Amino acid sequence: MKDKIQELGKKREEGLQGGGKKRIEQQHKKGKLTARERIQLLVDEGIFEEIGMLVTHRSVDFGLDKEKYAGDGVVTGFGKINGRLVYIFSQDFTVFGGSLSETHAEKICRIMDLAMQNGAPLIGLNDSGGARIQEGVVSLGGYADIFYRNTLASGVIPQISAVMGPCAGGAVYSPAITDFILMVENTSYMFVTGPNVVKTVTHEEVTSEELGGASVHSAKSGVAHFSCANEVECLNNIKKLLSYIPQNCEDDTPLLQTSNLKPQTSNNLDNIIPDNPNQPYDIREVITNVIDADSFFEVHKNFAENIVVGFARLGGRSIGIVANQPAHLAGVLDIHASTKAARFVRFCDCFNIPLLVFEDVPGFLPGTDQEWNAIITNGAKLLYAFSEATVPRITVITRKAYGGAYDVMNSKHIGADMNYAWPSAEIAVMGAKGAAEIIFKKEIAEAKVPEAKWKEKESEYQEMFGNPYRAAERGFIDEVIEPSQTRQKLISAFAMLENKVAKLPRKKHGNIPL
Ligand code: HXC
Repeated sequence: MKDKIQELGKKREEGLQGGGKKRIEQQHKKGKLTARERIQLLVDEGIFEEIGMLVTHRSVDFGLDKEKYAGDGVVTGFGKINGRLVYIFSQDFTVFGGSLSETHAEKICRIMDLAMQNGAPLIGLNDSGGARIQEGVVSLGGYADIFYRNTLASGVIPQISAVMGPCAGGAVYSPAITDFILMVENTSYMFVTGPNVVKTVTHEEVTSEELGGASVHSAKSGVAHFSCANEVECLNNIKKLLSYIPQNCEDDTPLLQTSNLKPQTSNNLDNIIPDNPNQPYDIREVITNVIDADSFFEVHKNFAENIVVGFARLGGRSIGIVANQPAHLAGVLDIHASTKAARFVRFCDCFNIPLLVFEDVPGFLPGTDQEWNAIITNGAKLLYAFSEATVPRITVITRKAYGGAYDVMNSKHIGADMNYAWPSAEIAVMGAKGAAEIIFKKEIAEAKVPEAKWKEKESEYQEMFGNPYRAAERGFIDEVIEPSQTRQKLISAFAMLENKVAKLPRKKHGNIPL
């Protein structure tokens, strides 16, 4: 028995070496951790139960039968993060560049199946040269097996992808289907076709970083939700993200007993809205004055900054926040803002996370760029996402709620549970100036001093609609509240809605305008 145990120890030791010392050194030189080091940092006390450590590939072509590594380029297993079960796969770049073989894919699929059967989040740490080129179609089949499982798991268990090295070609589509993508600055990149192919086809010369680095995907394309300065920050962000999310779609949102129940700052909300309705202010100031201290975790921070989305805690309970940002493009809704918010709303709805909306929106962004790129279809995504969400939903209108954007931003008409407005709210079809120009066109043109007439009519319209009371009279607004009352109002309204049951009409699935 002693010999046998020694043999097991030797095999395990080999497995832990991955592609060998030299390749591990190369990995470190690039500023990257190994697959196992990453897991160690991610799980509680570094305790991780590995599954399939001794699996090797079955290929024989191109001399691969003589080159085998225990684990075949991916470390898979389970552990705990903040005491909660998670399943993890972590690709090992030191073995064939972390490339995906048939067996590598089987290991990932096994972990995905376990995560689904046991209702716990799946975390993928991606660092791979893509399909194992020597294996051909077998490897492509392996990718498809993963994509299929990603899709079936969507909305059942949270799926989080960290891209910590290359992620190219079709390999990008697994992270793309998952709920969140985190990237590491300067050491990770994602693209469907790399710089060489780009140069051949479009004659553009770009580096990997310029084409698909963390900053590009977190700010320009919106593919990545988080851009992290280094790998440790990336792993810490995964832990933080999980703290707001339940284990699966049947689970309740986490209640953090240690949440600092006081709002973050003592600024008086009553003074946040500028007297001039066209003057910007930072909606984050409103958010942090309402939620539990230090609890805002912003998602997609650098992308479509005219809308702010993220997780927070209110009275210790997780909520999702969607807020127009008047400090960026006046908080207008455009294509990117609409898709960013729609995706976030759908995530929260999948996982029973109540939604809080702060609204200050002048409307949809006009222009050929927006129209030709389908603001109609993309704006409809947000409308659809809110309309379909059955979680508790509350809106607070802080200032402008104009036009179609009023309807879209979680209005009562599309199923919001409670709608509050501050006295500074203006709920109208459009701003007073534009409205006066249209409806009093003739009178303005015929006036002795058209400018003066226009001003007079603008004031008239502003007087009539530049307030929350018309909407409140109709019951579209449940209560007009003082800004400083907001936190208490929200805490009691969310508590009132805690056991909300809402059902959608029976269907196979809806047809969201994609
Ligand atoms: C087999 C691979 C590999 C791959 C890298 N390696 N990619 N082995 N299949 N796809 C091996 C290398 O041979 C090398 O082995 C080791 O991994 C490290 O690679 P290097 O090139 O030395 O590293 P680096 O300079 O950092 O470059 C990394 C890289 C490059 C940018 C990822 O290796 C690369 O371009 N690889 C090919 C990428 C690719 O075209 N993949 C297919 C995409 S199509 P040794 O033994 O020397 O250490 C795809 C289809 C998916 O993925 C379809 C799904 C629908």
